[in-house]
Amino acid sequence: MTPPFDTLRLPVFAAPMFLVSGPEMVIAACKAGIGGAFPTTNCRTVEDLDGWMARITGALKPGDAPWIANLITHSTNARLAEDLRLVAQYKPPVVITALGSPKPVMETVKAYGGLVFADVISMTLAKKAAAAGVDGLACVSAGAGGHTGHLSPFAFISAVREFFDGYIAVGGGVGDGAGIAGAVAAGADFVYMGTRFLATTESMAQPAYKQMVIDSGPDDLVVSDSVTGTAASWLKPSLAAAGRDPDNLGGPAVRDYASGGDNKRWRDIWAAGQGIESVKAVEPVADVVSQLEREYIAAIERFERKTFRRPALCGAA
Ligand SMILES: Cc1cc2nc3c(=O)[nH]c(=O)nc-3n(C[C@H](O)[C@H](O)[C@H](O)COP(=O)(O)O)c2cc1C
Repeated sequence: MTPPFDTLRLPVFAAPMFLVSGPEMVIAACKAGIGGAFPTTNCRTVEDLDGWMARITGALKPGDAPWIANLITHSTNARLAEDLRLVAQYKPPVVITALGSPKPVMETVKAYGGLVFADVISMTLAKKAAAAGVDGLACVSAGAGGHTGHLSPFAFISAVREFFDGYIAVGGGVGDGAGIAGAVAAGADFVYMGTRFLATTESMAQPAYKQMVIDSGPDDLVVSDSVTGTAASWLKPSLAAAGRDPDNLGGPAVRDYASGGDNKRWRDIWAAGQGIESVKAVEPVADVVSQLEREYIAAIERFERKTFRRPALCGAA
């Protein structure tokens, strides 16, 4: 891997999570050897964002994995221009755009040598982002927490590889190291993991949210556009606690990604993805990464044992 990815211990990005990922999680992830991302919308003001970026860049040293800023480029994000000014100042090695075109960030990030990835949930969006000249695509697939995709990660990776030779980070339902190995074997460069880090010590999620993630499994999730106006994967017990009937959620809500209204929806109703079963306790990010690494290595060894006919297939036997 070339810079900035040559410092990765595992091909994983801790994915950006609204109201969950902050400087502690980003720093812990980068120190543990995986990319660490946060959405700039987690800062209520530009001054807060300045403080966060100063803390992150002050804590990280050469050899740490890259930190990643996630920018919502949807038209409802009125702060995009101001956030971009801080991006130009602090130079995150990777910027991932979401819920809009990557075009508004390209010039700024390219000017300092950063890489732009676009979060996409469909082939149409993937093709548009590739045409805009992004370096990578975060292919968010079925099973993802938060705003989810609907495609199988296997189908998505191979279809994108037909026209895109940049980086592919695949996200959605990967909770353990075997899933990381599977995604890499299927053609991804990185895995974009949110849910696995929801209940970490460094996560800003409320304690009751972390406990619900630990206590819940994939059957406790429902995908609905009735909360934010876009399909997202929610924890049913949190919907019930907020007075909503998880089995009868009604039609789509009005889209609103960046205002206080949306903030309230995400604070009261909690998102998670299908990799949720892997979360068993509140643990430091570093311990989760060590476990993922052990599982990843075990999966590779298993894979090698399974491909016992490979020498014959290669004509070597
Ligand atoms: C609680 C939560 C909040 C999220 N917030 C954001 C966000 O603000 N911006 C974004 O691009 N993606 C967001 N996501 C999606 C993640 O970045 C990532 O695509 C997803 O978590 C990957 O699937 P997984 O949760 O199954 O690992 C969120 C996911 C979760 C679980």
